[in-house]
Formats: sequence, structure tokens, C-alpha cells
Amino acid sequence: MVFGKKATGAGLRFQSFDLLSTLIAVVSTNGSVLFANAALEDALGTSRRTLEGSQFGACFHEPHVLRTAIDGARSNDFATLRYEAFLRRVNHELMPVQVTLAQGDKTGELIIEMSPLEQQVRQDREERLLDQAQANKELIRNLAHEIKNPLGGIRGAAQLLQMEVESRDLIEYTQVIIHEADRLQTLVDRLLAPHRRPHVVGDVNIHEVCERVRSVILAEFPRDLHIERDFDPSIPEFRGDREQLIQATLNIVHNAAQALVERRAAGDAQITFRTRIARQVIFNKQWYRLALELHVIDNGPGVPDTIKDRIFYPLVSGREGGTGLGLTLAQTFVQQHHGVIECDSVPGRTDFKILIPLP
Ligand SMILES: Nc1ncnc2c1ncn2[C@@H]1O[C@H](COP(=O)(O)OP(=O)(O)OP(=O)(O)O)[C@@H](O)[C@H]1O
Ligand SMILES: [Mg+2]
Repeated sequence: MVFGKKATGAGLRFQSFDLLSTLIAVVSTNGSVLFANAALEDALGTSRRTLEGSQFGACFHEPHVLRTAIDGARSNDFATLRYEAFLRRVNHELMPVQVTLAQGDKTGELIIEMSPLEQQVRQDREERLLDQAQANKELIRNLAHEIKNPLGGIRGAAQLLQMEVESRDLIEYTQVIIHEADRLQTLVDRLLAPHRRPHVVGDVNIHEVCERVRSVILAEFPRDLHIERDFDPSIPEFRGDREQLIQATLNIVHNAAQALVERRAAGDAQITFRTRIARQVIFNKQWYRLALELHVIDNGPGVPDTIKDRIFYPLVSGREGGTGLGLTLAQTFVQQHHGVIECDSVPGRTDFKILIPLP
């Protein structure tokens, strides 16, 4: 909200619109602007004075849509009309908005309200992904149970068979069965692990978590990896399961270190841990006054586009030899703290953000 911008001329009547954070324009039925509120001025990056008297349609990516809407309003086809459109800012950036058109008090005036869509779209998308991920996890867990039961039997039978057969060639076959059964057992155990482990709750200091992860990763990648710490020391402790959060963070940092293979060879591989306090945030369909934000940022090649939307799903991997469980586990652990993990990745900068509510 921007104060201190004075409405001019006819605008005085609409001055109270300046107190709103949604974007508002009052236009005449020929489409010219009678008033633009302060939020709209800010969003478009232009002044009220420039807007007043001009055709408001010109502020949209597709000017004719507003014309059609106004014509509809003029012929009284509807009291209010809603549609989605792109506002064009002075720097040519497009801004998706939901447009609501309503008749004003006076005939010949229309009030156009525009609310930015980005946040809504993002929120809807996140909720949808979360629901999908939840359903997938359930399915995988049930499947893992089903696989686990006969696996013991298969392994046992192969062992008995191995004791009976004498030919070396045949023993090789039974060993393949035993070996593959063991591999599957490990996979199934990992799939089921987060749901079995007890939730040990204590006071957690996020910086201690980061330090532990840092030392583990540096032990594994002792050379060629620079880990930067950018901490907000004012972040309070919170109740949680320290080991789970270490594991979650470790999985994320591990991926980053693996993705940095070329940068490590080039000698400029970097991972940054950044902690911040977020205020008034909405995630998991809830509003939180305070939340902890932990970013793990790397300068690697970015998450492959082909799997970008699915990286938190079990068994999705873009890596040779990866099982695709690291992020699934991380997400489960963070969710057990009522938090979320988000990923924002472009080549050269991948940012995994963990958000956890603070008391
Ligand atoms: N920082 C990152 N940069 C680039 N790609 C990433 C990054 N983090 C994750 N990915 C991609 O997401 C995929 C899924 O990660 P996830 O940790 O779930 O599985 P994984 O690493 O393949 O196997 P696992 O962790 O189970 O051994 C990775 O294979 C990789 O392709
Ligand atoms: Mg991984």
C-alpha cells in the first residue's frame, strides 16, 4: 500500500479506493480511465495522471477483451463479470490478474478490480501436488508391504535350493535370486522406513542441524566443495525431531553435492545454507505468523526439466544409480513438522527451501 499520492479531479470521489491493496480502475463506457487507485499505479509502474483519460484496454495484453466486456456491461448482459487477463506493465512485463467488472454507482461508470493471480495459481498448484504426492506415497507404501511379504519366502526357498544343487552353474542362478531379493528388501525397507520410525521430539536449533549436515557432506566431499553459511542467528529453537531434520537436510544437500560433479571438477562448486525468518506465510493450506526458512542453494546444472514436477515422488530419479527416495523421505520428515519443501531451479541456481512453522 502506498500512501501520499493525491487523487486528482474526478478522482476525489473514488479516493477511498486508494486504501485497498487490490488494483482498481474506474472507466467510462467508452473505455477511458476516470480513476486509477494507488495500487494500480504501482503495479503498472505508471502515474494516475498518465492513465486518466487514456484507454484502459491498452494496459492489457489483449486490449479487445476489455472492450467486449464493457460492451457486455453496457448492454446490461450481466451485473458483474469475471475473467482472467494479463496486465502489461510499463517495462512490458506481463502480470496475470483476475479481472472483475462491475457497474458503478453512476450510469456510464464501470469499476474494474484486478487481483494478481500468481499467488493463487501457485497455491493451487502446490496444493494439488501435495495431494497427489500424498496419494502416491500411500500407494507405494501399500505396494511395498505387499512386496515385502513374499520376498522372505523367495529368498528362503532360493537358499534351500542352493543347498540341494551341486552344479556350480546352477548355484550362480540361486545366488542371483538371493542377491536381487536382498536388493529389493533394502529398497522396500527404505520405502517403509519413515512411517515406522518414532518421532522423537525435543528442542531443535536449525543451525546445529546445518552444522551436522555440513560436516557429514564435507567428510564425503573433502575437496572441491565450498559450503557457505548465511545464518540468521535470531531464529529461535523449536520443538521437533532433530535426527529427522538432519536426515531431510542431508538428503537435499547430498543431491546438490552430486549435481555439482562438473563444477567440482572446474573448482567453483558452491552450496549455500541460508536461514531466515518468514512472516505471515501461507503453506499447507494454513496461515502462520512465523516460519523458519532454510534454503539450500547450489550452482549446479539444475533439476532436469523432464522430472521437475515429480522430484518429490518416490522412485523418481534423474541420476544414474539413484533410487529416487531421498527427496520423498525429506518431504515426509518435513511434513511431520507441519512444514513443506519447495524447489526453484534454473541452470546455475537450484534453491531447495524448507519451511517449518515457528512458535
Ligand atoms: N540440487 C539438485 N540439482 C539438480 N538435480 C537435482 C537436485 N536435487 C535433486 N535433483 C534431481 O532430483 C532427483 C531426485 O532426487 P532424490 O534425492 O529423490 O533421488 P536420487 O538422488 O536420485 O536417489 P537417492 O537420493 O534415493 O539415492 C535426482 O535424481 C536429481 O535428478
Ligand atoms: Mg538423492
